[in-house]
Amino acid sequence: MNQTDVKKAEGKLGILVVGLGAVSSTFITGVLMARKGLAKPVGSMTQYDIMRVGEGADKKYLHYNQIVPIADLNDIEFGSWDVYPANAFESAMNAEVLKEKDILPVKDELEKIVPMKAAFDHNYAKRLDGDNIMQGKTRWEMVEVLREDIRNFKKEHGCNRVVVLWAASTEVYVAPDKNVHYTLADLEKAMKADDKEHVAPSMCYAYAALTEGAPFVMGAPNTTVDIPAMWELAEKTKMPIAGKDFKTGQTLVKSGFAPIIGVRCLGLAGWFSTNILGNRDGLVLDEPANFRTKEVSKLSTLESILVPENQPDLYTDYYHKVRINYYPPRNDNKEGWDNIDIFGWMGYPMQIKINFLCRDSILAAPLCLDLCLLIDLAARNGRYGTQRFLSFFLKSPMHDYTVDEVPVNNLFQQYTMLKNAIREMGGYKADELID
Ligand SMILES: NC(=O)c1ccc[n+]([C@@H]2O[C@H](COP(=O)([O-])OP(=O)(O)OC[C@H]3O[C@@H](n4cnc5c(N)ncnc54)[C@H](O)[C@@H]3O)[C@@H](O)[C@H]2O)c1
Repeated sequence: MNQTDVKKAEGKLGILVVGLGAVSSTFITGVLMARKGLAKPVGSMTQYDIMRVGEGADKKYLHYNQIVPIADLNDIEFGSWDVYPANAFESAMNAEVLKEKDILPVKDELEKIVPMKAAFDHNYAKRLDGDNIMQGKTRWEMVEVLREDIRNFKKEHGCNRVVVLWAASTEVYVAPDKNVHYTLADLEKAMKADDKEHVAPSMCYAYAALTEGAPFVMGAPNTTVDIPAMWELAEKTKMPIAGKDFKTGQTLVKSGFAPIIGVRCLGLAGWFSTNILGNRDGLVLDEPANFRTKEVSKLSTLESILVPENQPDLYTDYYHKVRINYYPPRNDNKEGWDNIDIFGWMGYPMQIKINFLCRDSILAAPLCLDLCLLIDLAARNGRYGTQRFLSFFLKSPMHDYTVDEVPVNNLFQQYTMLKNAIREMGGYKADELID
């Protein structure tokens, strides 16, 4: 084993979370509780998964941190920005995801996490009306303030490294525009000209993070780092980026279930997915322009797994629909229904129904942890640009659409990519042997 190319995880790792809502407060509380031994980080690959390295007589089954140097939970320092001034304790209580008994033991630590003023534009999330925001700033000024925030946080908390994670609301859909988003020079020009239409606040966070030497993860479906200008910035700053949209409930099921249909060469006539949820995320997504961003992200999953061009008899013209309905009584406890119309031998139709009663933030929290720890690892390995091995955690994995690259959405192929990256960083050979 040769780990020489990966720097050790020395000192503290700052995790700066954009948005201190249901997902972030659940994530932070869980980490603080886990390091006191009061809760288990269930669902986290970096904390639980055991994978094979080596072949034949040399094969071993190890946890990730036995293969590569992953930051310890005790070395994490949390910070955040939010539109609302509530600290992490208040936010966790307001979200009503966790019971009081699972929050109170870390109340003191949570209360110290007070959100910095947000770089926010009401036009990007009309349903939000908080006042903890930077006033009267142009897009470029937002970048400058955010850069200063990152520097101050790093100094005040004695962090060696910082990762910035977007777990804030979904912004309205920004279509990639060749005149603004394709080169770094054009993007910077637009920021300096305060082009509010093409430069989303999330782009200011990403720009600030990368220029301050912090990897950036996009957990919502926003366009943000999914534009050539940001790929250029990531290359220039030698920083890793990942996105977009945490793959938690329905899409996790879809990307795990669609391969069953595909590997058995069954046909697909239609897949209708609908959800009800009642948290603030659901409220924001009730706005059609914000839902559009989510829809684009959710729809992309199936098309690259069940490909009509490869199997015209089985997958031509299937009907694929995704709906999200805001329904306050359920709060964070989302319910998803999938109706799948398949066909078999001689075209005879069958149906599969999946009813997933999940908890949104409980599924998202381990992904936040894994994405932060693994992108920090990637940075210490000198990896930069889009981290395709993190597609496993993402609903709409970033890919170079300017050269027609097809993203990998199949959960099991994504898992192989994840394990192979860990193998390579740990000094082992990448492979696709059966475990
Ligand atoms: N929970 C899941 O299963 C899941 C899955 C995929 C994606 N996501 C995404 O994760 C994000 C967070 O979800 P949530 O349930 O925690 O939502 P939430 O509404 O509880 O929290 C989001 C927070 O972001 C803040 N915010 C909005 N714009 C901001 C800005 N510009 N700067 C700083 N803060 C800002 C809001 O004030 C809010 O407190 C959403 O975009 C959601 O779509 C969640």
